Amino acid sequence: MPAKLKLSFSKTSPKGDVATICLIGKNGEIIPHLERNIAAHLIRTMALAQFTGKFGKSLMIYTDTNSYLLIGTGDKLASGIEAEKLGGKLFSALNGTASKMGWMPDHKLAPTVLADVLFGANLASYHFDRYFTEKEKDDVMVRLCVGGEALDENVSVYQDRQALANGVFFARDLVFEPANKLYPVEFANRCSALSSLGLEVEVLDETAMEKLGMGALLGVGQGSRRESRMVVMNWRGGGDEPPFAFVGKGVTFDTGGISLKPPKGMEDMKWDMGGAAAVTGAMCAIAGRKLNKNIVGVIGLVENMPDGNAQRPGDVVTAMSGKTIEVINTDAEGRLVLADALHYSETRFKPHAIVNLATLTGAIIASLGKEYGGLFANSDDLASQLEDAGRQTEEGVWRMPMGPSYDRMLKSHIADMKNIGGPYGGAITAACFLARFVERTPWAHLDIAGKAWSDKATATVPKGGTGYGVRLLNRLIDDWQGASVSHKWEQSDD
Ligand code: BES
Ligand code: MN
Ligand code: ZN
Repeated sequence: MPAKLKLSFSKTSPKGDVATICLIGKNGEIIPHLERNIAAHLIRTMALAQFTGKFGKSLMIYTDTNSYLLIGTGDKLASGIEAEKLGGKLFSALNGTASKMGWMPDHKLAPTVLADVLFGANLASYHFDRYFTEKEKDDVMVRLCVGGEALDENVSVYQDRQALANGVFFARDLVFEPANKLYPVEFANRCSALSSLGLEVEVLDETAMEKLGMGALLGVGQGSRRESRMVVMNWRGGGDEPPFAFVGKGVTFDTGGISLKPPKGMEDMKWDMGGAAAVTGAMCAIAGRKLNKNIVGVIGLVENMPDGNAQRPGDVVTAMSGKTIEVINTDAEGRLVLADALHYSETRFKPHAIVNLATLTGAIIASLGKEYGGLFANSDDLASQLEDAGRQTEEGVWRMPMGPSYDRMLKSHIADMKNIGGPYGGAITAACFLARFVERTPWAHLDIAGKAWSDKATATVPKGGTGYGVRLLNRLIDDWQGASVSHKWEQSDD
């Protein structure tokens, strides 16, 4: 159970040591309706404590018989990201109380606002405790009971958020898992379990991928004792429409291969499958929400290891598209995996757009820090919709340039291309490499190397695996307007 929050809905307050939760507006206005003498007591105490209802600040107040947990909302509470953050603060405050039990009386909030608050509280409650031998006991779960007149409507709006949270948690769990526990076959098993939600899940093994000619992906996996896999997750909610395709890099561990990485920080490479995790989490959310659209998720799962059978720098591999690649650096492996996953997705599904996610380069962290995912696209429409979705979910993306002058850096003397460019602009040349494996479809690549893992917690995202991308993709699909290709840079092969 990754979420530490047990939420229930009821018309009446639970019994026992329960803190009554009161959201407090800008000028100390108490939002729920309380008995007059209690309200007066709270107002007096707020004044003494100089509690003014600032956003996210909390105050615990006791009477002889009850306790009240006050949370400031700041300016008028709107739905969306602010409400979610408030929910995150609410969870932390409640988690800090002795009983960890809260009762939220009717605040007469719009169902979407209430749902977003509860969604934020749920997101904030995530914790990955699988490998602690002394588990926290069930009685330290935080319990929140929500009341209100519009209970049925509140519950149904919340359930949609709950499905999204499940997708985020599914992704976070995958990212947290160490590589001795989560390797390609195990990752694929976890995907197969999602068929209980109505997803069609297909797993391609090495023989199947060999038949398809996926020499780029298989070359990366050949140095590992763990077999490679490709997983196709298909959600068919939209009849005969072509699907939208999500594609993910799933390197369950990246040692660098023969171009071995230095030891310092190598443990981080357990989350080099963050792109595949985001795609899987998004598919989980979409299936849980039962969207009436067609969406397919394709992830390439490999482990990049150095051994007697590993590919060498200088090897030439043939991708499924027929193009040949000179592998100059075996540590530039994600793009090799994606080359085949992208080509496969485009040719098999003829999707109306493709978005791929990958912890692809350290260079994107040098460019953008850890504040944004890097966005590269051949379609201005798709790019701007991703930017919008990023702003709304605070899973922000920042568009980066591409073009023939970068693409040219991939020229090889013995094959169609090299797998690395020059010393500079490494995130961009990586994107240009990927662009060569998409023929005609509006496509965007998100380089999420700076976003899949976080060293500091925020109101709704704990430290560690963030699940970044799940909410972004979910929002993109909800607001989808269509897109067309506006650039085809790789045409320059001078
Ligand atoms: N998985 C790494 C990129 C990465 C770095 C992700 C740091 C998360 C944090 C990727 O496979 C890689 O090794 N990229 C190389 C490319 C280089 C060899 C051209 C890099 O960024 O150094
Ligand atoms: Mn690498
Ligand atoms: Zn990698």
